[in-house]
Amino acid sequence: MSMNRTGTVRRAAVIGSGVMGAGIAAHLANAGMRVLLLDVVPQTLLPEEEKRGLTLASPQVRSRHSQAAIGRMVKAQPAPLYEPSFAARITAGNLEDHLTALSEVDWIVEAVVERLDVKRSLFEKVESVWKPGTLVTSNTSGLSVAEMVEGRSEAFRQHFAVTHFFNPPRYMKLVEVVPTADTDPAVTALLAALCEERLGKGVVVAKDTPNFIANRIGTYGMLVTLEEVLRYGLTVEEADALTGPAMGRPKTATFRMLDLVGLDTLLHVVDNVRDKSSDPAERETFARPPLLEQLVAAGRLGEKSGGGFYRKIKGPKGSSE
Ligand code: NAI
Repeated sequence: MSMNRTGTVRRAAVIGSGVMGAGIAAHLANAGMRVLLLDVVPQTLLPEEEKRGLTLASPQVRSRHSQAAIGRMVKAQPAPLYEPSFAARITAGNLEDHLTALSEVDWIVEAVVERLDVKRSLFEKVESVWKPGTLVTSNTSGLSVAEMVEGRSEAFRQHFAVTHFFNPPRYMKLVEVVPTADTDPAVTALLAALCEERLGKGVVVAKDTPNFIANRIGTYGMLVTLEEVLRYGLTVEEADALTGPAMGRPKTATFRMLDLVGLDTLLHVVDNVRDKSSDPAERETFARPPLLEQLVAAGRLGEKSGGGFYRKIKGPKGSSE
């Protein structure tokens, strides 16, 4: 496999059409790739649908959910698609309906919820239709890369690594590429070249350690800020101003960023470092902040649920009330 193979990656599939999956699909479409964007119908939708006599198997439910995924991308401001017409390069659908189509793509990007069990069973399903040679990557924030594909065939594991995009994928320059001991070094090189040459990113090849490099540091910073805010009785606006422009960082520095990331996702990321650590001090540092747990329990997940630390997010600039 040589570096000039990046041009042969023309078709991609992104599994998971949430905050990151939708953004990654748009970024790949912007780079000229045809993209299949797949998801499952959210459980929360089902009771409502069932009241109307529809089930998960109903084409209306599946199609409406798929259209919603494209709708999110086209409507989002600033638009993640350079040209609204690029949306035509993206086909959104239900994973079960399009499973066999995964054997027709060159690159499969997994961006489902940050849970090892969910990702593991997804990769088992993906392998059942995997065409040898197809690249498979996960966008995990920091789960063990090797554990995600434990039990998969050697050939599959040789073609598997993490490509960790940051939020929002169109604007954030960094991609962490994280191979395992089984990843073919040519695959790692190809993924790095793809991200750099085709997607315009800066790549750091990281080791398979909990939360890799950026999130290990970033999550710690966010937890410390949250602790200090509570200690000194600051508002989230004050904290964002102090940790943002005052330090030469964007005004989305801490709490706006957390709302963008998703508070449920942050909890998963925090859990991952703590559960993997045998150092009591580190386990304490990465304890779940009760405030974060309360917000998540109340359904305040951030921008994706209409509010998190900021009560309500209006319009493109994320103005709050
Ligand atoms: P999200 O909660 O916005 O979206 C997850 C999507 O996965 C949902 O649409 C859900 O329906 C779908 N899903 C769940 N199980 C599925 C399955 N078995 N098959 C197909 N689809 C399934 O989550 P988000 O934030 O997009 O995160 C996705 C991944 O990206 C996670 O691993 C997360 O840690 C990582 N990540 C998140 C970042 C962020 O800022 N939110 C930044 C970088 C990485």
